[in-house]
Amino acid sequence: MSTKRVSTTEPKHISEEKLFIHNLVKRDPRAGLAEDVRRGLTTQPKRFLPKYFYDELGSQLFEAICLLPEYYLTRAENEILQRYADEIVATVAGPTTLIEMGSGSASKTRLLIEALLRKQDELLFMPIDISATALESSSRILLQSYPRLNIEAYAADYFAGLAELAKEQRTHTLALFLGSNISNFDPEEALKFLRALRQVLHEGDALLLGADLKKEKSVLEAAYNDALGVTAAFNLNVLARINRELGGNFDLRAFSHCAVYNQDAGRVEIYIDSNREQTVTIDKLDLQVQFSEGEQIHTENSYKYDLENIGKLAAATGFTRAQTWQDQKQQFSSNLLLAV
Ligand code: AVI
Repeated sequence: MSTKRVSTTEPKHISEEKLFIHNLVKRDPRAGLAEDVRRGLTTQPKRFLPKYFYDELGSQLFEAICLLPEYYLTRAENEILQRYADEIVATVAGPTTLIEMGSGSASKTRLLIEALLRKQDELLFMPIDISATALESSSRILLQSYPRLNIEAYAADYFAGLAELAKEQRTHTLALFLGSNISNFDPEEALKFLRALRQVLHEGDALLLGADLKKEKSVLEAAYNDALGVTAAFNLNVLARINRELGGNFDLRAFSHCAVYNQDAGRVEIYIDSNREQTVTIDKLDLQVQFSEGEQIHTENSYKYDLENIGKLAAATGFTRAQTWQDQKQQFSSNLLLAV
């Protein structure tokens, strides 16, 4: 494990003691991409893992998705946090530590940090994110805004980060899993993740879980099929990434983005369709891949919840759904799960 303190060349008002980053990311991320792409393109049906969306360009495209008129999720969750942040933080008694899983740019977190700083003199924020660079830049920005904040961050995958957190003693804790990131887990993975998170909490601690709600097919499909084509670019960027990093020769114009709501499974399914029969070569994998016309690569599922599903998920993982806040259009839910 390597650790990193803020260097003394940084702005004077961020003292060294205010930021501590534990870097637990051991593997070369490119090695994982190569193995997973080979596996995904040599199995039937073909598939990629959604984590590979988020290289630098993909992360920026996701930020752009969050601004799209059709992608209501981010605005709806912001509306809830703007309105209810004080009520949410009041659910945890006494001085509170704030944990966030997958904090990314941490922009929504600000509303909860501000609410906690209205309630207590100082705050320890413990974000866990796979990207050390995102963690460092978002942490610096937060520290510049909030002089009473301290940050101990973990650059790690969720499970490695949680295993570290489980070793430490803390005050009462509010954990955050925002943005409906739970949507991209299959049901089994969601259970596994929430159980691991529950392990680091004590009875009476809380998890604020953002979850997108089931709704009409037309609204859901528009959210993942925006008119401007940003979600299509986000999806096809995986092929561009393979071209850049693994020497692939995918012709991006010969593939199309596809998103459909599977009502029975309660999820939006996202695919890349091959527009014609074609062969793609990936030099660094020494691999040739055949595509038939219309053949699909599955790239992501985005599960949609109802309050009953969320209650069941909570009950199966050591929580109880104590309270739920919704936006005015009732499109999104912020759920306070209490550790029991
Ligand atoms: C990150 N995650 C919650 C997004 C979602 O809505 O499932 C990812 C996304 N994929 C396409 N658009 C957004």
